Amino acid sequence: MTEITLRRPDDWHLHLRDGEMLKAVLPYTSRHFARAIIMPNLVPPVVKTADARAYRDRIMAAKPEHHHFEPLMTLYLTEGTDPNDLEEAHRTGLVTAAKLYPAGATTNSHSGVRDMDKAMPVFERMAKIGLPLCVHGEVTSSDVDIFDREAVFIETVLDPLRARLPELKVTMEHVTTKDGVDYIAASKANLAGSITTHHLIINRNAILAGGIRPHYYCLPVAKRESHRQALRKAATSGDARFFLGTDSAPHVDPLKECACGCAGCFTSINTMSCLAHVFEQENALDRLEAFASLNGPAWYGLAPNEERITMVKRAEKVEFPTRIETGAGPVTVFDPMFDIYWEVTP
Ligand code: DOR
Ligand code: ZN
Repeated sequence: MTEITLRRPDDWHLHLRDGEMLKAVLPYTSRHFARAIIMPNLVPPVVKTADARAYRDRIMAAKPEHHHFEPLMTLYLTEGTDPNDLEEAHRTGLVTAAKLYPAGATTNSHSGVRDMDKAMPVFERMAKIGLPLCVHGEVTSSDVDIFDREAVFIETVLDPLRARLPELKVTMEHVTTKDGVDYIAASKANLAGSITTHHLIINRNAILAGGIRPHYYCLPVAKRESHRQALRKAATSGDARFFLGTDSAPHVDPLKECACGCAGCFTSINTMSCLAHVFEQENALDRLEAFASLNGPAWYGLAPNEERITMVKRAEKVEFPTRIETGAGPVTVFDPMFDIYWEVTP
């Protein structure tokens, strides 16, 4: 197959940042994707309805006029989140989900939730009104090995929460382990998982073998090969509980290439091309549409996009920039370490 047409995809987990960075990175998403769930971990975070509304306006102002793109906003849960404010944001259609960052789990998560009991009134209200909870599924305690943090989170936080509130709809975001895949696949209802492009492509060797490569460092950190294989199987299975959330997370190079570099891979430029490559490798090009364009909207109760995009496989490799310039500084583009032949036609 050298050409595929699919419904325009959506990105169910995206970092757009703000200011100059927002202006520079948004067009790479909006030229391929119709909608994206926008992460709220700005500085300061998007915690209230009013913050989400103002951020949404800044995103729309930064969007190229000829791109049709809808940002699906989220609120950042803190121990002080007011359930009434959250309900209001949901009722007016402003937010599509609320995001749980365990405090300290990742970039700008220090205002997140330390004690799950303190956020219980919020989770209860979300279960009642049907607002999905997007979860960064890692425990943060320093005595848990970083490679085990997802599995321990499932056992000690997520499963007890779901047992207590079975009606709560939970998206386990950026699943990185076979444990996560198996947990989702075994669930009967109200649980789904997003998978990033980069976790389908790299394992932990990319970060650590033969030298330290900070541009492959993200959170949750890439795991060993058997986990990557489990993610590939889930993503290409057609199982409606798995869908694309790129977690494209730009940081300027000086903040990645230093003694304590930030987590995040910037993939929005070449995500669709990389995914076509992966799905072709797995003999599953016919399931790319389910993963990128159908399963996500179905989970969030939205219609799939009517518009189509066409991807073609070129005879010559397709070149992407290795880095982009932004008003905030240079940002390195994710390098999948294979030649790319697939491209979205204009
Ligand atoms: O790699 C990541 N980068 N993982 C996250 O959870 C946050 C994100 C960011 O905001 O930079
Ligand atoms: Zn993220």
